[in-house]
Amino acid sequence: MNILVLGSGGREHAISLKISQSPKTSKLIVAPGNAGTAQIATNVEVGVNDFEAIKKLVINKSIHLVVVGPEDPLVNGVHDFFLNDDELKSIPVIGPEKAAAELEGSKEFAKEFMMRHNIPTAAYESFTRESLEKGYAFLESLSPPYVLKADGLAAGKGVLILKDLQEAKDELKSMLVDSKFGNASATVVIEEFLNGIELSCFVLTDGTNYKILPTAKDYKRIGEGDTGLNTGGMGAISPVPFVDEVLMDKIEQQIVKPTVDGLKKDNLPYVGFIFIGLIKVGVEPKVIEYNVRMGDPETEVVIPRLKSDLVEVLSAMANGTLDQIDLQIDKRAATTVMAVSGGYPEAYEKGKEITGTENIQDSIVFHAGTKLSDGKVVTNGGRVIAITSFGKDFKEALKTSYQNMEKLHFDGMYYRKDLGFDL
Ligand code: AMP
Ligand code: GLY
Repeated sequence: MNILVLGSGGREHAISLKISQSPKTSKLIVAPGNAGTAQIATNVEVGVNDFEAIKKLVINKSIHLVVVGPEDPLVNGVHDFFLNDDELKSIPVIGPEKAAAELEGSKEFAKEFMMRHNIPTAAYESFTRESLEKGYAFLESLSPPYVLKADGLAAGKGVLILKDLQEAKDELKSMLVDSKFGNASATVVIEEFLNGIELSCFVLTDGTNYKILPTAKDYKRIGEGDTGLNTGGMGAISPVPFVDEVLMDKIEQQIVKPTVDGLKKDNLPYVGFIFIGLIKVGVEPKVIEYNVRMGDPETEVVIPRLKSDLVEVLSAMANGTLDQIDLQIDKRAATTVMAVSGGYPEAYEKGKEITGTENIQDSIVFHAGTKLSDGKVVTNGGRVIAITSFGKDFKEALKTSYQNMEKLHFDGMYYRKDLGFDL
């Protein structure tokens, strides 16, 4: 099979590596890819939202299956673009259609979906510029901290958690009236604050059947002890040690099953990965958010633990035969540590030469923000390289990742040394 993976991060490198290991794969193309995917596939300089260029690529390279990495093209309707095109409609796309991608594209849509299907989540109300005063009154009725969410995609920055009521009101106004996050904050969801520990659950679905992938926990803050600004993720651990059978069963019965059934009932066509952001409040799981893709860097620990042939699994998703797949999962724990550019998640420089990857042993090096420049691998993003390792538990796995991190170098490189501190 000829397979196209869309995206350029560590997630896409991890998915591509697994696809490249399948005997069913003939040609693997990544668009646009990075210096890591270049080692295992052919990179083609086509943007993930350039649907016409994607169409040309798919036809020229006789692609049989497309795997969409990031949310953007899904929310923009890349799957629908294929279905509406005579030359493309028979080529399966892994990733939901636009209507279903709204689960990530609109927080309000996701909340209404959860309410409709009785899926446990934080209480909420949503507001627009016209209902600003009602928004103030709602904030007054809540106790701090206050959770404000821009309805639309805001590059992971659209959620504000504020301790002070006046500050929350000011931010609400800035989001609704001054378009703090552009059109994404034309509607704002205000939520009850949930106190607990977070984890992520990843689900594969063909629209009817589902399979649950290993759980993972990522570390979003830039600073040790979960301090400082939010990032895309500084590392991850899988499985999540505090998830026992009882909790997993609740997650499946109260959340996963109603989600997949709800998508079907609501006629939201979904063939793809569902990333359910959860928080364990006391002993109960609640949904914080849906993403319509895999997480990054969670993919760098979840996919390496998958022992089944990923191409077989993806084909079953496309064919509606996921029920016939028996997912094989590596029992060992996996961890990944992300090396980031100095200054990230604020302004940072690119183009720094990366050295030392050849000395890394017993770990997998996933490239995130890298590219080839004059034969050298250089930094090309905030999150640069993720080092994934296995161990009997996450501590042992982390030790290997950290030992190997010391061999990696680029100007301004930073990584968190305290992953798992809260477990
Ligand atoms: P989201 O973009 O929805 O994942 O939100 C970003 C982060 O904000 C989450 O990972 C949580 O840490 C936090 N968060 C979101 N919603 C809530 C909530 N209702 N209560 C507590 N924390 C939240
Ligand atoms: N690591 C969080 C995300 O992918 O959204």
